[in-house]
Amino acid sequence: MSGSKSAWDVHNLPDNSERTFLVTGGNAGIGYFISEQLAATGARVLIASRSADKARLAIEAIHSRLPQARVDHVPLDLSVSGSVAGIADRLGALSGIDAVVLNAGVLAQPQYSITEDGNELVFGTNHLGNFALMERLLPLLVASPGSRVVTMGSVAARFTKLDLTDLQSSREPYRPMRTYARSKLAQTVFALELDRRLRAADSHIRSVIAHPGGALDGLTPSRPPLRTRGRAEHLKALPKAVMAQSKENAAWPAVRAALDPRIDGGELWGPRVLRGFGKPVREKVPAEWLDRDVAAELWQQSQRLTGAAWKELDQAAI
Ligand SMILES: NC(=O)c1ccc[n+]([C@@H]2O[C@H](COP(=O)([O-])OP(=O)(O)OC[C@H]3O[C@@H](n4cnc5c(N)ncnc54)[C@H](OP(=O)(O)O)[C@@H]3O)[C@@H](O)[C@H]2O)c1
Repeated sequence: MSGSKSAWDVHNLPDNSERTFLVTGGNAGIGYFISEQLAATGARVLIASRSADKARLAIEAIHSRLPQARVDHVPLDLSVSGSVAGIADRLGALSGIDAVVLNAGVLAQPQYSITEDGNELVFGTNHLGNFALMERLLPLLVASPGSRVVTMGSVAARFTKLDLTDLQSSREPYRPMRTYARSKLAQTVFALELDRRLRAADSHIRSVIAHPGGALDGLTPSRPPLRTRGRAEHLKALPKAVMAQSKENAAWPAVRAALDPRIDGGELWGPRVLRGFGKPVREKVPAEWLDRDVAAELWQQSQRLTGAAWKELDQAAI
């Protein structure tokens, strides 16, 4: 079931001036371009990121192209439980969010390291941080009819399995890419389980997965003052354009997943060509990702590790 609900033009997005989106990691890379493209629709965009300075540069870059853009920064460090717990307070009087794009993430780390909460850094940031964050943001999604969560997955998740006896990669040897891939798979399994639980609670909120394909800074256009691509960097990356793309184009699946009303919860969207580059299309969700026992066990362990109770999900009609 791979296809493309047609008539979606990545260069001509519908007006969203009445809507509000929160993009984690909107200060850099793919998240910057997701923020820029959403802001271009007239939407209000909240860049949730840990560095105020980087967020300021991203906002300046967006304003230099879109002077009317409505973009603000919300401090968030996904690896620090206190920062995640305080997000709702920092969002102040916001009455609702139409979509949260869970883009932020750490890539493979050279060595095993832990967060200040004692979790393995990659799993702790990419999965546990997002698990706890979504519990906190749920009321703002409940308040916006037709809202959705977009989780940024990865092709890497297809080539691994979760080890439910060692989610935090504590056993030797530490393998950076395996730990990263498992963290993306955990995010994906969580996103699918969240969609099932939302439906079971009669919620209007939907949870969707997007992945960017392969995205390289060297193929990505400059966005001063945030980032300027060097000529040597560009030339070095050019041969890889046969299987990867710019971070600008890599933003397309997540942007479509956030905006296209025809996309339903539980769907997976990614680039058309070899899952590496091109316009966004729907992909078949691998059967292993839909294992409900694995999802239930991951949910339970994530609750224990984060303390996120998800009480609202137990109430009917959220
Ligand atoms: N690039 C690819 O080919 C590729 C492929 C598959 C999936 N992905 C996924 O796409 C997403 C974006 O990737 P990218 O290539 O754009 O990476 P990137 O350029 O390294 O950007 C990562 C973003 O995540 C933020 N981040 C990292 N740790 C954080 C934390 N603890 N709290 C809050 N924000 C944090 C970073 O903020 P700082 O600037 O503060 O570090 C940055 O904004 C990730 O989820 C990644 O797994 C990427």
